Amino acid sequence: MADKISFEAPRGMRDFYPEDMVWRNKVFDAFRAAGESYGFVPYDACVVESYELLARKAGEEVGEQIYHFFDKSDRHLALRAEMTPTLARMVAQRQKELAFPLKWTTIAQCFRYERMTKGRKREHYQWNLDIIGEESTLAEAEVIGAAVDALLRMGLTTADFKVHVSSRKFLGSLLEKSGIAAEKHAQVFLALDKRGKMPDGEIAAMLRDGGLSDADVDATFRIMDTKSFEGCAELEELFRLAETAGFADALVFDISVIRGLSYYTGVVFECFDTAGEFRAIFGGGRYDNLLTTIGGEPTSAVGLGFGDVVVTELLKSRLGADAAKAASGIAVGFMSDAQRDAAVRLAAKLRAEGERVDLSLRAQKPKKFFSHAGSGCAAKAVFLGPDDVEKGVARMKNLSTREESDICL
Ligand code: HAM
Repeated sequence: MADKISFEAPRGMRDFYPEDMVWRNKVFDAFRAAGESYGFVPYDACVVESYELLARKAGEEVGEQIYHFFDKSDRHLALRAEMTPTLARMVAQRQKELAFPLKWTTIAQCFRYERMTKGRKREHYQWNLDIIGEESTLAEAEVIGAAVDALLRMGLTTADFKVHVSSRKFLGSLLEKSGIAAEKHAQVFLALDKRGKMPDGEIAAMLRDGGLSDADVDATFRIMDTKSFEGCAELEELFRLAETAGFADALVFDISVIRGLSYYTGVVFECFDTAGEFRAIFGGGRYDNLLTTIGGEPTSAVGLGFGDVVVTELLKSRLGADAAKAASGIAVGFMSDAQRDAAVRLAAKLRAEGERVDLSLRAQKPKKFFSHAGSGCAAKAVFLGPDDVEKGVARMKNLSTREESDICL
């Protein structure tokens, strides 16, 4: 006899049972509504890319996490770990035809062979918002504003989360003032991004490996205590625009935000829950050189990725595990097979009127019908017995208020 196959999804991959889909839909609905409200247009792409497009410079964690394989024709392929290289490829392919600035959005399933910790899976859906071809800081303000809007639509308030913002340009200028040359900054950023995830001693060792002297390392740690962004024009402008647009209370300056991806060039940001319980809710920044890296024309860009995993955990903890359930629609049932056709006709009539109808598939006792209808997602229920069919009128019950009204069959 064959070995029994495990019923569990592979480690780090997820199944979505109906009760999970309710949450996923709530989160995706907010993503879509916020994207539309801010004028982003949807796009989509293939999940499999050439490994070459996704392969990274050494040091970037995501490079070691790529699921890759050779197909039967020996093509080296990979599952996307993020959407940004794919977006860059798509824009580069049509760079001459597209009208910039572009505001594009998608919800992309991404795969990363991660060490499994709270809030990190090996597959997640990531809402992406990107503005391509705009240098002004209004681009940062619009992507951050849209992400904040999505969180508010989900039912959170700015007391639940904060978007921590900084600028690699600003940090770079502080490092340079301390005598740390620009060519060392990429390594410094990757090392500093690990702060809080590994001891400072190990980070100091990484910095020394990147060519920094002991005095440089001390200076770098001192810079990380910077509390003011005075003199950084782009951050001053971002905070001013956030004030004007009405979401300044969601922003805080935080020099420790660096981001683990090396393509960021300017403003960087990451959103965290204020209680500090969860991993980053979303993250992004300005990346002005990615298109040239893959062979396209120089183009400025700003964007963010907002995963479904952390925000769902946060929503369940703040709003309650049942908060995504919204009863709607009408359950229609019948007592015996003699009323079945009448129930089918009633369901057809209600559906034609635009109602969502869950028609019972078999005759039931009223108690069973109402207890099932009440525990499901229906808001109202109609149960047909022989008398109702004879009279041509039945009772429609509101399952939460218990109020009843007549409905013609
Ligand atoms: P990232 O910081 O690597 O950035 O990911 C963005 C967000 O995706 C994270 O804040 C988190 O919500 C979610 N996420 C990432 N990895 C996982 C995982 N293993 N499990 C669950 N959730 C995860 C990027 O990917 C950039 N490409 C974002 C971007 C778009 N930058 C510019 N445009």
